[in-house]
Amino acid sequence: MKKDTFTFTNNRTNESYEFNILDATRGPSVVDISSFYKQTGMFTFDVGYTSTASCESRITFIDGEKGELRYRGITIEELAENHSYLETCYLLLNKRLPTKEELLDFDLELRHRSFIDENLITLIGTFPDSAHPMSILSSGVSALSSFYYEHLNMENEKECQDMARRIIAKIPTLAAFAYRKSLGIPFIYPDIDRSFTENFLYMLRAYPGGKMKRTATGVEEIKAIEIKALDTIFTLHADHEQNASTTTVRNVASTGAHPYVAISAGISALWGRAHGGANESVIAQLEMIGDVSNVDAFIARAKDPNDDFRLMGFGHRVYKNFDPRAKALKKLQDKLKDELNLDSKLMEIAHKIEEIALNDEYFIKRNLYPNIDFYSGVILTALKIERPMFTAIFVIGRTVGWITQLMEFKNDSSSKIARPRQLYLGE
Ligand code: CMC
Repeated sequence: MKKDTFTFTNNRTNESYEFNILDATRGPSVVDISSFYKQTGMFTFDVGYTSTASCESRITFIDGEKGELRYRGITIEELAENHSYLETCYLLLNKRLPTKEELLDFDLELRHRSFIDENLITLIGTFPDSAHPMSILSSGVSALSSFYYEHLNMENEKECQDMARRIIAKIPTLAAFAYRKSLGIPFIYPDIDRSFTENFLYMLRAYPGGKMKRTATGVEEIKAIEIKALDTIFTLHADHEQNASTTTVRNVASTGAHPYVAISAGISALWGRAHGGANESVIAQLEMIGDVSNVDAFIARAKDPNDDFRLMGFGHRVYKNFDPRAKALKKLQDKLKDELNLDSKLMEIAHKIEEIALNDEYFIKRNLYPNIDFYSGVILTALKIERPMFTAIFVIGRTVGWITQLMEFKNDSSSKIARPRQLYLGE
């Protein structure tokens, strides 16, 4: 059968060229322009890749118009409501949800793999106390490549799974150590009696000897509702197809670099304010606004073309209707409002911003809606997690997505080193 093609006509020369149209199982078809330069002698130009599909993928699907997000075909609403973060990790890595026994084995394996080498702990100890947790985390993950240097055979499924499970297990420990280092307080080792998410909260909160905080009324244990809330946040962050940090991971991996160095590069890419760093900036911005009476002035600044001020937690390259992760988090925020005593002042300002922006011509015309980062900060604050750790929380959730995408890239026989060209305008 003849393939559908896309015809490109150069009206300078009147020559026409045909390119194959490839269909997706869902979402837009693509024009295969891999032979474009060979055929036409020209490059295509797409700053920020707004119209470019960089790879084939079978992991995550986003419908930006409908506000739909699925991992391996399952909606994130279903995963957030009825499954744990570890089940989601298993799903991403193995293309299906685990059985009860598989989940137990996976959970126990991650608990036992959660420890980090003593030399790496020494390295973390050498950072200045003022270091941002994201900088320690990115360096720590990069350093992990020297502790597990043996060259991986990416065609060996067991070796790949070990590599992936090791990084997923160790990321919360590295993040917790980075946090405690930034506060200048002693490290708390993982407790294998605790589940993935509980263990992370424990490593943040415990006192030396593994004791939890004592108050006049007793010991402040970690509440089930806090574990569920953070677990849901991890699930909602687990993957997001070819975003900036994932593209960074794939690009670094494309050179043949060690997988953990590629993940470290992904962490660095995520740190920026336009990407994962926005969750830290949202709370800083809400605090700067300070009172609902100041919201109008900040909205005016966001709309002013001569002011580079942007409303943090608003807008998305792909979602043009709503961000389903934001919707799920808003629901979680409302549910936790009383139980976790959420900061009502910050929520009041956030609601006011949301209300004005959703009805304002500027935001409507540009399809600017609250994104995942707009809501996560208020919940994380209620979980007693300090602001500089917010993006590290994003890292913990996203690591499984990065490593799954990296493995997919490595197993794709058509993958190549990432090497774009340019429109040269210099001397
Ligand atoms: N506040 C005010 N105006 C905005 C905002 C905002 N947050 N975001 C976009 N705009 C305007 C922008 O000025 C431009 O207006 P104009 O057409 O008049 O020049 C228009 O909307 C399109 O913006 P863009 O920068 O071309 O859009 P983009 O797709 O390249 O950028 C974005 C997407 C997320 C980087 C951007 O919306 C932004 O900077 N948002 C704030 C940071 C943020 O919340 N980031 C988290 C993203 S979600 C988590 C994640 O996956 O990382």
